[in-house]
Amino acid sequence: MRLILLGPPGAGKGTQCKRIVEKYQIAHLSSGDILRTERAAGTDLGKKAQSYMDSGALVPDDLIIDMMVAAMKKAPKGYVLDGFPRTMVQAEGLDKALARAGEKIDAIVNLVVDDALILPRMTGRRSCPKCGAVYHIATLRPKVEGKCDKGCGDLVQRPDDTPEVVSNRLKTYHHQTAAVVGYYQKKNAVILNMDASREISQVSKAIFQKLDSLK
Ligand code: AP5
Repeated sequence: MRLILLGPPGAGKGTQCKRIVEKYQIAHLSSGDILRTERAAGTDLGKKAQSYMDSGALVPDDLIIDMMVAAMKKAPKGYVLDGFPRTMVQAEGLDKALARAGEKIDAIVNLVVDDALILPRMTGRRSCPKCGAVYHIATLRPKVEGKCDKGCGDLVQRPDDTPEVVSNRLKTYHHQTAAVVGYYQKKNAVILNMDASREISQVSKAIFQKLDSLK
């Protein structure tokens, strides 16, 4: 199964992807997670991406397309793309890579959520820098405050989860990314619009029902 998960920052893409990959045994390819790993490792790509990420802007398309196509090649059993494509140029780059590989996307899951819900979700998010688990100080609390449930150690707040950067990321989403849904509509792709304002497990249940019915 090959999927794309679209939606604004804080829609719950990472949260839902973790549940999707567990159920369908496919790879989770998150452009944001890959960039953060590159940054932590101090690679050229990570250094180039840093200033864009810190301000809430998008990293240049050519860097992202090469990075994601390389990740897709390492996932022959299928994947869910999380946070990619985010521009028309990236969507076209993805189409070309899929055509070269003789593959296609089975469905696009589009998480729909009002901007008003985003800020409290993101400023309350806490993540584990070691295993990538995501929590929330109010709605998805770890068993011990500030500690990962898997025993990895301290949870951290992402530097781009401040109110100012979240506001920029939302603007970037509306100016550059929201139109990607229209790109796929024009191509008559299978688009599953999901109400992501509901509780996490309700959103998962609705996504699973739709994906199961596609099989
Ligand atoms: P990225 O890491 O992809 O960030 P994002 O898209 O802004 O999305 P987030 O990871 O912040 O949110 P999410 O939707 O995954 O929400 P989550 O599940 O964590 O990108 C970061 C940066 O990298 C970008 O700004 C850009 O600079 C660069 N970048 C990445 N990809 C790029 C690309 N393709 N091109 C160019 N640049 C790129 O949930 C958030 C919180 O809400 C959690 O605490 C969670 O517990 C909670 N929550 C989730 N669902 C619910 C729910 N239903 N109800 C209540 N709480 C919920």
